[in-house]
Amino acid sequence: MEQWTNPSLEVCRGRSIIIGLSGGIACYKMGWVVSALAQAEAQVTVLMTEAATRFISPLTFQALTGRPVYTDQWTHVESQDPQHVSLARSAELMLLAPCTMDMLGRLATGRTDDVVSLVTAGVDRTKQPVLLAPSMNEVMWNQPATQRNVGLLREDGFGVLAPGSGWQACRSVGVGRLPEPPQLLQCVVEALRDRPEIPAPGPEQPQWTD
Ligand SMILES: Cc1cc2nc3c(=O)[nH]c(=O)nc-3n(C[C@H](O)[C@H](O)[C@H](O)COP(=O)(O)O)c2cc1C
Repeated sequence: MEQWTNPSLEVCRGRSIIIGLSGGIACYKMGWVVSALAQAEAQVTVLMTEAATRFISPLTFQALTGRPVYTDQWTHVESQDPQHVSLARSAELMLLAPCTMDMLGRLATGRTDDVVSLVTAGVDRTKQPVLLAPSMNEVMWNQPATQRNVGLLREDGFGVLAPGSGWQACRSVGVGRLPEPPQLLQCVVEALRDRPEIPAPGPEQPQWTD
């Protein structure tokens, strides 16, 4: 395996970054990514779908980030405010990796029935980049539904990273791999570079009309 080298991560220092995981086999790679961001002194918050928690433990990310990990939309971890809104506002960048075929479909159709898609829905993509890193078996990646959803999501202003090619967990070789951690970090660095830092959100304003 080629030696992994970290891109320069200085731009991440002090920046609020949300990492969302959905339930793909490549969840194991995200420990490396989150650890590198934490070491770069980014403020990393991890969100996981229920399926993602079957591949890697939330405890891993809690330990790596020193912060609570969000695994459902009903438990208010840090505040009594609608946390999906306050979390989304605080994000200077969001990276959903791995992003499953199912998650692509949910985002493309505006569904918000898990904590990852719900917080994503609260992010203003005109100011806060949202990067999706699809990861799946080659046949799933080539499905018309997947390709249609990727096209829709790009039109909707998401940054969709091209999956890598190579060995897949289904013991075949093909397109659909999650890019390696240094490549994911490089995408984070490039998205943050030249973006003015977002000031910390002020006190919550009333948001509900009834
Ligand atoms: C062992 C195993 C590995 C899986 N790997 C992937 C994967 O790499 N990519 C993918 O899109 N779905 C994968 N799936 C299917 C998803 O876990 C399933 O569609 C799930 O509903 C996704 O939920 P989520 O998008 O809410 O996380 C896998 C399922 C299993 C059982």
